[in-house]
Amino acid sequence: MFLYKQEWGAIIIEKQTKILTSSPEDIREAGKIIAEGGIVAFPTETVYGLGASALNGNAVKKIFAAKGRPSDNPLIVHIADKKQISEIAEEITPAAEKLINAFMPGPFTIILKKKQYIPDEVTAGLDTVGIRFPENETAAALIKAAGVPVAAPSANLSGKPSPTRAKHVKDDMTGRADAIIDGGDCGVGVESTIVDASGETPVILRPGGITLEDLRAVIPSARVDEHVLKAVSDDEKPKCPGMKYTHYSPDADVIVVEGERSAVRAEINRLISENRNKTIGVLTMYESAYDDAVILSAGKDNKEYAKNLFAALREFDALGADMIFAEFRETDGYGLAVKNRLYRAAGNNVIHV
Ligand code: TXA
Ligand code: MG
Repeated sequence: MFLYKQEWGAIIIEKQTKILTSSPEDIREAGKIIAEGGIVAFPTETVYGLGASALNGNAVKKIFAAKGRPSDNPLIVHIADKKQISEIAEEITPAAEKLINAFMPGPFTIILKKKQYIPDEVTAGLDTVGIRFPENETAAALIKAAGVPVAAPSANLSGKPSPTRAKHVKDDMTGRADAIIDGGDCGVGVESTIVDASGETPVILRPGGITLEDLRAVIPSARVDEHVLKAVSDDEKPKCPGMKYTHYSPDADVIVVEGERSAVRAEINRLISENRNKTIGVLTMYESAYDDAVILSAGKDNKEYAKNLFAALREFDALGADMIFAEFRETDGYGLAVKNRLYRAAGNNVIHV
């Protein structure tokens, strides 16, 4: 049975969503759905993706409708064989070659000049394309089964935290995707590192599963785009269109409290006492205890923080939090990715103590 509903200014069909597993038969079925123009949510090592054939502009449009995603925000094209890169990219620079050899497959996306035939729906009209070769076996098997490169954003409703568990995808995409492959929890927890390698010096547009240190070990001149930690103002046109949109927002207001353990604890206690009438959540990386707050652990280091962050933001919503205070201190290579996602979730509402 199909139900029609009006949303995001467009009519979308509420679909019967099949729940599939990572078994070979189910992956074959999911691949067929994509080959025939449908959309399938699937696990990757970073976050779940929502995929369609990257060669079918109409199928790609269904992703934008299902997510409520602004049409000027391009999608990453997923491959399962490095040979596909030269079929999609017009030019592979020497720096790109090094990065591809070092980081693919893995939590890494490379931006290169695109071949003309890649539909504008995928690249939002840009002359570049993001290419990613996921390490996750289910993802790679699905792409192979589809027989086409797979365009896929994260499988969340636009603006919400990216899904790192099958439950998150089912919450957001039931009735919207043709199928969801339940592949368990994602290991990295934040999205891939996006590197623009279309010019001379590689630039990180989004930090993620591959750290700046990892990149610099291969290309010492690699740098980080200024907008990674800074809000984009109305008159700016960021290199990565996704930078200008609200991201990772739970229903609660998020405030990041950054600094040494004891000072962070004192500040959060002060904030709690100032907001006695509200339901408070605290995401702790210091195993702190707070009275009158729901406490979730971010883990013992930033790698664990990355893995837990999006799930924690969703859980605070489920627990009815009005405000979330997130403890943070940049301690290692994953710190930049965590900081970027936290700052975005908080709308840059950060207290340094
Ligand atoms: O780990 C990941 O990358 C996940 C999994 C599913 O692979 N995907 C993901 O996709 O995070 P999405 O659509 O949620 O984020 C992709 C980001 C967006 O901010 C978009 O603006 C940017 O990549 N992007 C895509 N193509 C681009 C291009 N040609 N130039 C600059 N930025 C691009
Ligand atoms: Mg996303």
